[in-house]
Amino acid sequence: MTVSLTVPEADVIRIRDASHLRPRVAIVLGSGLSGLADVAGESVAIPYGELEGFPRVGSVVGHAGRLVVGTLGGVPTLLFQGRAHQYQGVSALDAAYPARLAAALGCEVLIVTNAAGGVVERLSVGDLVLISDHMNLMGTNPLTGWPGPDGGFPFIPMRDAYDPELRELMTQVAADQGVALAEGVYAGLLGPSYETPAEVAMLARLGADVVGMSTVPEVIAARALGLQVLGMSLVTNAAAGVGLSHAEVIEAGDRAAVQLQRLVAEFVSRL
Ligand code: HPA
Repeated sequence: MTVSLTVPEADVIRIRDASHLRPRVAIVLGSGLSGLADVAGESVAIPYGELEGFPRVGSVVGHAGRLVVGTLGGVPTLLFQGRAHQYQGVSALDAAYPARLAAALGCEVLIVTNAAGGVVERLSVGDLVLISDHMNLMGTNPLTGWPGPDGGFPFIPMRDAYDPELRELMTQVAADQGVALAEGVYAGLLGPSYETPAEVAMLARLGADVVGMSTVPEVIAARALGLQVLGMSLVTNAAAGVGLSHAEVIEAGDRAAVQLQRLVAEFVSRL
């Protein structure tokens, strides 16, 4: 079956009617990271339920479920508070809706953030990780059935998917703010079950540093649509940790989220 990466025109109109801002930057805020949207200026919020193309999923604690159009450091920005995950039963194409909508609205940069488990021992709870690359271990791809851009092919290069220049800029911002920023490879798994210890050992041997259940479909779609991508993970737990609960994931996010928000806000203002 042929699929399209475009979004319903009604969603583009809904957003353009709601705000005079014309964002060039979009940010997807992961579990516990939605607070950044609260400091946006000139902001208007649109519940995901009012967007035709946004996948319909039940709410998961920590995922607010709305799109905020506003400014960060004076820069017009789209902020997605929460995302739809494939573990909620949506397709990879639908999980990538924020990236597709950002592209349709004329954004050039997509910043993806997520809560992730630390795979390697050097990472502790509360660490921030600049994503250098990912492994798609979800068994799906948002481009399945996509014929490619007009007259082109669907074989999207994924080298430097996480833009080297944007990574450089974020590294600089972190240094300027005195915030420790690790760098690492994100492994995307389907979930919703967390990894077994054997799976965490496997991920470490494969070269993954953090593991999560999102981000990968958004980044693949973003690259297909020509967006530059920056990715940040907040380590909320050791992936092999015992007794992990979703509440713990959210709580760790709250503590380090403020640091991440400051980094991203400053990063956007320097774009
Ligand atoms: N595994 C997968 N996804 C996650 C984790 C984890 O340990 N923590 C937060 N998201």
